[in-house]
Amino acid sequence: MDFLKELSAKQEKINNYLENAIKGEGLLQKEITEAMNYSLLAGGKRIRPVLMMATCEALGLLEDEVLPFAAALEMIHTYSLIHDDLPSMDNDDLRRGKPTNHVVFGEATAILAGDALLNFAFETALSAPFDAEKKIKAVSVMGKASGYLGMIGGQVVDLEGEKRRLSADELTKMHAMKTGALIKAATGMGCALAGRDESLLSDYSANLGLAFQLKDDILDETSTAEELGKNIGSDAKNEKTTFITLYGMKKAEELLEETTNKAIKALEKIEDSEFLEEFAMYLLKRRS
Ligand code: IPE
Ligand code: IPE
Ligand code: MG
Ligand code: MG
Ligand code: MG
Repeated sequence: MDFLKELSAKQEKINNYLENAIKGEGLLQKEITEAMNYSLLAGGKRIRPVLMMATCEALGLLEDEVLPFAAALEMIHTYSLIHDDLPSMDNDDLRRGKPTNHVVFGEATAILAGDALLNFAFETALSAPFDAEKKIKAVSVMGKASGYLGMIGGQVVDLEGEKRRLSADELTKMHAMKTGALIKAATGMGCALAGRDESLLSDYSANLGLAFQLKDDILDETSTAEELGKNIGSDAKNEKTTFITLYGMKKAEELLEETTNKAIKALEKIEDSEFLEEFAMYLLKRRS
């Protein structure tokens, strides 16, 4: 298997779908659809939809059938980034290599574009060609993962970590929620659509999600804005608690490797897991 070739084929599929997903209908919708598409189509690694597509493939579904769900997850992720960059949150002005949504469209429109992507995600997911029972299961995984028990809950703890030093345990839980939840949802939704137990791959994806945020925190200190497409030093600027502020870079890197290995080990029970294994290694080594 040529991993990088498969990865870009999946990224291209999801990009094509997203390019045609949101259309303005007349003058009244022009501003909001422009703001939604501005961030949604600005690039991005498409990690979450790729993971969902790979999960579904490993469980015998066709990639094309699950595209509406994969796109929905990317819409929710993009909304979380638009809001994460707002002045009241991380106050960042560069994302996916472009000025952030609020810098271009103003705060009010950026908030509304985020809200609109969240709602439209559910509408999009429900248009997929699955029976109602499977769709309800997958949509409820998506709702829970993006809500107060998942991504939003994690963002609340993240902001709390600017005011006081979080413990390692709190930080692990925060990572698992703010970033891990949507990554875990990618496999959970795939399993639900395939009619399998939604926790079949959750040891893999929970560790993958934790590793993903660890790497994000490491890159925030070690990469460049050109490579990342977002400003570096954002965590230090906001005095966030991270594994690097708690333990130092060396230990954070060790933890990243340990967590990635745990993810790979959890794949033992899956038959067709080659892509998922290479995906974990790709995320470990990524430079952006
Ligand atoms: C950035 O996510 C925010 C985190 C949850 C760490 P990604 O690194 O997946 O960002 P894009 O989608 O590639 O822009
Ligand atoms: C954001 O974490 C996680 C989200 C839910 C958006 P970060 O604040 O570390 O993400 P970046 O570094 O701005 O992409
Ligand atoms: Mg943040
Ligand atoms: Mg941020
Ligand atoms: Mg970050």
